[in-house]
Amino acid sequence: MPESPDLTEVTPESIQGLVQGASAQLESIDDLESLEKWRVEYLGRRGRLTGVLRGLSQLDLEQRRVAGALGNQAKRQLEEELEQRTRKINDARLAKSAGQDRLDVTLPGRLPVTGRLHPTTQIVREICDAFIGMGFTVVEGPEVEWDHYNFEMLNIPKGHPARDMWNTLWIDHRNEAGEYPMLLRTHTSPMQARVMESMQPPVRVIIPGKCYRYEATDATHEWHFYQVEGLAVDDGITFADLKGTLYEFAKRLFGEDRKVRFRCDYFPFVEPGVDMSIDCFACHGEGEGCRLCRDSGWIEIMGAGMVHPKVLAGVGYDPEKYTGFAFGLGPERIAMLKYGIDDIRLFYSNDLRFLRQF
Ligand code: PHE
Repeated sequence: MPESPDLTEVTPESIQGLVQGASAQLESIDDLESLEKWRVEYLGRRGRLTGVLRGLSQLDLEQRRVAGALGNQAKRQLEEELEQRTRKINDARLAKSAGQDRLDVTLPGRLPVTGRLHPTTQIVREICDAFIGMGFTVVEGPEVEWDHYNFEMLNIPKGHPARDMWNTLWIDHRNEAGEYPMLLRTHTSPMQARVMESMQPPVRVIIPGKCYRYEATDATHEWHFYQVEGLAVDDGITFADLKGTLYEFAKRLFGEDRKVRFRCDYFPFVEPGVDMSIDCFACHGEGEGCRLCRDSGWIEIMGAGMVHPKVLAGVGYDPEKYTGFAFGLGPERIAMLKYGIDDIRLFYSNDLRFLRQF
């Protein structure tokens, strides 16, 4: 609390002394809080200089004239010094913070981390898109399947040696007959029977999905992987339709100048059965010394064939009236060919260094 001014000391000297003391004190202040205290002490409503000016009225006229002028000048001076000091302290604060938290507004913003589609998902979509463009519809089915659909309906009866083509993971559940009727589907072909049971021709479906096999894993074998199945059944579908459709697919996925080759192959649910190859895009079909196609100039990309009459009859279609073709391909294998991936196990080992490349 400032002392109340002693009126007897209001002389030019005492005003000057007050101003000098106030100025000196101001010089040493370097924070806004102390500055405000100083202002209240000298220039506040009950401040020391304010008190002096108020006390002037007690003086006689001549003294009042001289001291009044001095007092007003002192007030202006202190107000000016206060303003300068305030500016100086603010500037210093600004300079300090600019040095500490330097902000470069020209820097580009930080990109948020975004995920991406798994390479298998990407290639499955690419494959499906190619067939959707040719009038096929996407359908999906169960991964836990009945022996009935995975084998029986596909012309692979119990005890048939063709069952050895699929190393099967069985579900640990017996029926009354003591058999194991459930399994993890070994391919997407059981969906052929399921789709045909649920609709009448014309059928044009594409079935992407996961499959499982009891497999010793290596660079080209996984115990779980994807397949994309295709099925077209209608009045008058021929082997030429199979070739034309799959040739178009190969061109869409692997380039317009692709050549294709069909060779006889055996699958119990098609007749005739084929495997389809494309000419090697690494050596342009030259073959010799090519690692990708192992010197052959050709790369196998899928199994296919005309739907077996027994399969058609099994779902209640008249094999005399309807014919069709089916095919199955492995998207991981397609992705390996397209991107030069040399180990199928990379797909599902969750190594971000691998996955981030796609
Ligand atoms: N499902 C067969 C397999 O997994 C592939 C295939 C599908 C062959 C359709 C012919 C027709 O090997």
